[in-house]
Amino acid sequence: MSQSKTTAAISAVGGFVPKKILSNYDLEKMVDTTDEWIKTRTGIEERRILDIPGEGTSYLGTKAVENLLHKTNLDPKEIDLIICTTVTGDYLFPATANIISHNVGATNAFSFDIGAACSGFLYGVRTASSFLEAGTYKKVIVVGADKMSAIVDYSNRNNCIIFGDGAGAVLMEPNKEGFGVQDSVLYTDGIGKEYLLQPAGGSVKPPSVESIKNREHFIYQDGKTVFKFAVTKMAEASAEVMRKNKLTGEDINYLLAHQANKRIIDATRDRMGIDESKVLMNIQRYGNTTSGTIPLLMWDFEKKLKKGDNLILSAFGGGFTWGSIYLKWLYNS
Ligand code: COA
Repeated sequence: MSQSKTTAAISAVGGFVPKKILSNYDLEKMVDTTDEWIKTRTGIEERRILDIPGEGTSYLGTKAVENLLHKTNLDPKEIDLIICTTVTGDYLFPATANIISHNVGATNAFSFDIGAACSGFLYGVRTASSFLEAGTYKKVIVVGADKMSAIVDYSNRNNCIIFGDGAGAVLMEPNKEGFGVQDSVLYTDGIGKEYLLQPAGGSVKPPSVESIKNREHFIYQDGKTVFKFAVTKMAEASAEVMRKNKLTGEDINYLLAHQANKRIIDATRDRMGIDESKVLMNIQRYGNTTSGTIPLLMWDFEKKLKKGDNLILSAFGGGFTWGSIYLKWLYNS
């Protein structure tokens, strides 16, 4: 395959999850729940927690990027841009991407954050693609990182069972052979604010004694409504990107779906008409790491992915945000 058009391809993957495991059995001791309920309703068995005092999301993101740099022997000075997708940034400002850039020695890069919740990684990859397709930059890192344990209320059984901490990073480079991002569909609907948000801590409700007392700096989620939206929209977006590119289930090698709930992923697979063996899944080990889920799938299953494989990346998240990317994998590892 050789063509004049420049595409944006993922050329390397890195990842990091903290050592501490919080299992369903641990949660049984903290809230009124059972391992059986959590497994049946979500598919999650355990999740990782960053419990190093004073360390936040940039710690996870830095480790993931360092892992990528180590694997590729890439000189960090060659990186043009680092995009961090996160909703649990170290601070409201500066951007967590700036801190990661500094930590890894990417002294020639500029960097910024994208906050699109669980769809963050897709938004990041799409944004990076535009810079690469236009020829503006040559080496862009997209790092999806979230320390969800910082905003989870561990006395609320509706939410605390779902989330975990982790980060995944990809290096994206221009490609002349047609590999990489082929197409994407991305959406936003601000109605989502009613159903999934962190109510306090921003400019509407700056932190106060009252907001802390009301536990408003933790995630608020109407799980049932979010589930209904997610199950419909993620499946619709996946079907749409396939239809636009005349792909059938047979043409797809793997679905890499945001790991929010196994039932949502199953519904998406069903709509796409693909076999269960084509669905990559690690939700049982990490739970929902928000921006981290899709790059962590790439990290865990890198050996399985082969040059030329047709991948569908799909996500749904707070905002609401959702979408799907059709990507042709670049390399064998
Ligand atoms: N353990 C035991 N019981 C629980 C529970 C828990 N951890 N959490 C809720 N329940 C109970 C509820 O209180 C309710 O009891 P009731 O019928 O007596 O009122 C019952 O289980 C059913 O609750 P419901 O909220 O309808 O469960 P659900 O099947 O919708 O599952 C979620 C709850 C949160 C797992 C599910 O709604 C979900 O995954 N939503 C999407 C979340 C998500 O992905 N968010 C991230 C953004 S993508």
